[in-house]
Amino acid sequence: MNIAIVGCGFVADYYLGTLALHPELKLLGVLDKQAERATTLAERYQTRRYRDLDELLGDERVELVVNLTDPRSHYAISHAALTAGKHVYSEKPLAMTFDDARALTELAAERGLEIGSAPCSLLGETAQTLWHALRAGAIGKVRLVYAEMDDGMVHKMPYRKWRSESGIPWPYKDEFEIGCTLEHAGYDLTWLAAWFGPAVSVTSFASVQIPDKLPDEPLDMDSPDFSVACIQFASGVVARLTCSIVAPHDHSLKIIGDEGVLYTNDSWDYHSPVYSRRLMSIRRKTFLNPVKKRHKLLQDKVVKINTRGAQNMDFSRGPAELASAIRERRRSRLGADFSLHVIEMALAIHYAREQGASYRMTTTFEPIEPMPWARGEAS
Ligand SMILES: NC(=O)c1ccc[n+]([C@@H]2O[C@H](COP(=O)([O-])OP(=O)(O)OC[C@H]3O[C@@H](n4cnc5c(N)ncnc54)[C@H](O)[C@@H]3O)[C@@H](O)[C@H]2O)c1
Repeated sequence: MNIAIVGCGFVADYYLGTLALHPELKLLGVLDKQAERATTLAERYQTRRYRDLDELLGDERVELVVNLTDPRSHYAISHAALTAGKHVYSEKPLAMTFDDARALTELAAERGLEIGSAPCSLLGETAQTLWHALRAGAIGKVRLVYAEMDDGMVHKMPYRKWRSESGIPWPYKDEFEIGCTLEHAGYDLTWLAAWFGPAVSVTSFASVQIPDKLPDEPLDMDSPDFSVACIQFASGVVARLTCSIVAPHDHSLKIIGDEGVLYTNDSWDYHSPVYSRRLMSIRRKTFLNPVKKRHKLLQDKVVKINTRGAQNMDFSRGPAELASAIRERRRSRLGADFSLHVIEMALAIHYAREQGASYRMTTTFEPIEPMPWARGEAS
């Protein structure tokens, strides 16, 4: 499928650097409103630089637009691409408001197009292995999930020195303005929704614990740097998700079932090991077996991902999944309904202060399937 990338910022190298793992995606060119960024990437990855959005959208060969602009530009770019008859894969968040996100999915449906959203870590080896273990009943009936999405005190880190492979600086002001919930809750929410189905309610608290993150530069948006949510899934599972850029780094995920606990310590690494510990009883005591079982990571093919930075992920797996779903005329695992449901949850948490603590979900989605290589018998 012929793709074009809009947005050549910090994250673009993550996509362009993993594109070679997906030969079914053919990059036709890149665009950025900061022309020098697009030039840098076009030269580095031997592709064309589009002059402007009209030129890119006017290129009839482009079938799928990969929207890697900053979150506040997502809606306008995705809307323009859909209007021009292109499928869209958007970085997260799908949009900054639920109305905008829904409008995009409705526009896509009207036009017979697909729109899907990052993150795509659900398609990674760790998430698929966890899912497989859950389906195989490794810990019995699931009752509760504790998901941590704490990044540490980012405002105290040398973030002004962080550069992508191509030398593009990390957009710290934008990251602080958008906030860690809209930026990162989706990593856990996509996993939870895929495994446990649609959510019915989200009860949240969100606050700004460090208002002066940039003492010399006022922030244009006062987004929470701490949030905690309890999500009730229709299937009965409850998940507690915490996001912050305050508490020490912790991206662990713990799933608690009747027969034990299944967990991984780093949900940002596609190859983070998956463990379980089963409940055992000896005489009058019941406790978790001190010996953990390590589940063999399921994988399609052995791929080495060498992304620089905190996230060890194959970012191009998202557009590749959307593209193959379009070609195979099947529902994408990261399709419109699923992406809308995930952003509805994330926005409910992010805006908890304005909306009040309790939010009833309005969207749903049909169950989605694991990757073909992660189906089959229990390990
Ligand atoms: N920074 C990360 O580590 C990271 C990781 C994963 C995902 N993401 C997500 O990826 C997206 C991009 O993040 P980033 O860090 O690359 O941001 P960035 O600010 O570095 O890059 C965004 C780019 O989009 C360009 N842009 C904005 N509006 C445009 C328009 N109308 N036309 C053309 N170009 C336009 C900007 O000029 C900029 O170069 C965000 O949604 C972010 O949440 C970022």
